[in-house]
Amino acid sequence: MSTKKVNRIAVLTSGGDAPGMNAAIRAVVRTGVHYGMEVFGVSRGYNGMIEDDIFPMESKSVGNIIQRGGTILKTARSAAFLEPAGRKIAYENLKKRGINGMVVIGGDGSFKGAQIFSHEFDIPCIGIPGTIDKDIAGSDFTIGFDTAVNTAVEAIDKIRDTADAHDRLFVVEVMGRDAGYIALHSGIATGAENILIPESKTDMEGMIASLTEKEKRKKLVNLIVVAEGDEFGGGTQVGNFIKEKLPNADIRVCILGHIQRGGSPSCLDRLIASRMGYHAVECLISGTHNVMVGIVDNKMKYTPLDKAVKAKQKISEEWLKIVKILAS
Ligand code: F6P
Repeated sequence: MSTKKVNRIAVLTSGGDAPGMNAAIRAVVRTGVHYGMEVFGVSRGYNGMIEDDIFPMESKSVGNIIQRGGTILKTARSAAFLEPAGRKIAYENLKKRGINGMVVIGGDGSFKGAQIFSHEFDIPCIGIPGTIDKDIAGSDFTIGFDTAVNTAVEAIDKIRDTADAHDRLFVVEVMGRDAGYIALHSGIATGAENILIPESKTDMEGMIASLTEKEKRKKLVNLIVVAEGDEFGGGTQVGNFIKEKLPNADIRVCILGHIQRGGSPSCLDRLIASRMGYHAVECLISGTHNVMVGIVDNKMKYTPLDKAVKAKQKISEEWLKIVKILAS
């Protein structure tokens, strides 16, 4: 691990964007400037490092962005950075500017890149968890999740109005390639009948039996929330399965999609982004290197990047039980 004083840092956003990334960029830049560092922005994630799209930033570069969704640095998933040759070029581009510390805002794929890079070259990296999916261990929060789940709740509430008006059953697909957190939280918050997530296997025949039984006792059932990564398939597959089994039911499928990634970040996302951005720079200064900054039980927690890469958060059994009981 490097013992050199970190005084020239780069910040980038990588992977899928998440509302609140701009607030984190702002915090990194302003904290760095506060401590007398030279701060550089990198465009389009690791691609910008390879293509030498690196530029100086100052306090005013991050004015008027805390409330904006997306990322002013733009983002990408870089195939070239997976290759040693790409990482070598990226390193040369940092080195020629004297950059000796990095902050990467992204998800587990982005941390994997940062972890490899920090091992290959003498540049410490700090990860800030920015993903709407909340699929990273070592933090109770990831930037963007709160906004995304509130966007989903708002949309599902609207769907419920029309579902109710027509006595229809809606299958709503929300994002979450490997994680069911958006589905679980938005489903509970909107009173969904069933919530299908990749972390737990759904008994599809049991679900049909339950829908049939509820129809018999005239319980109004109009909402099933499915994570896109559910092991059975996404909303379309689930909708088709129900249509096949219950041909008389009036069913519609709605896929919320990328609307969940956009929009102005919630207060919570702005707060955690500001706090994590500040602590990321503090870590570079104090020598707490190659970690992801997280918040657990309202305290900062620093997880080595390799652990943040591998582990996933567990869905609590308690929530799954609550879903069942409240939907009865
Ligand atoms: O950022 C995470 C995520 O939104 C997943 O939930 C989703 O599967 C994926 O990104 C979509 O990625 P893309 O924008 O590349 O289609």
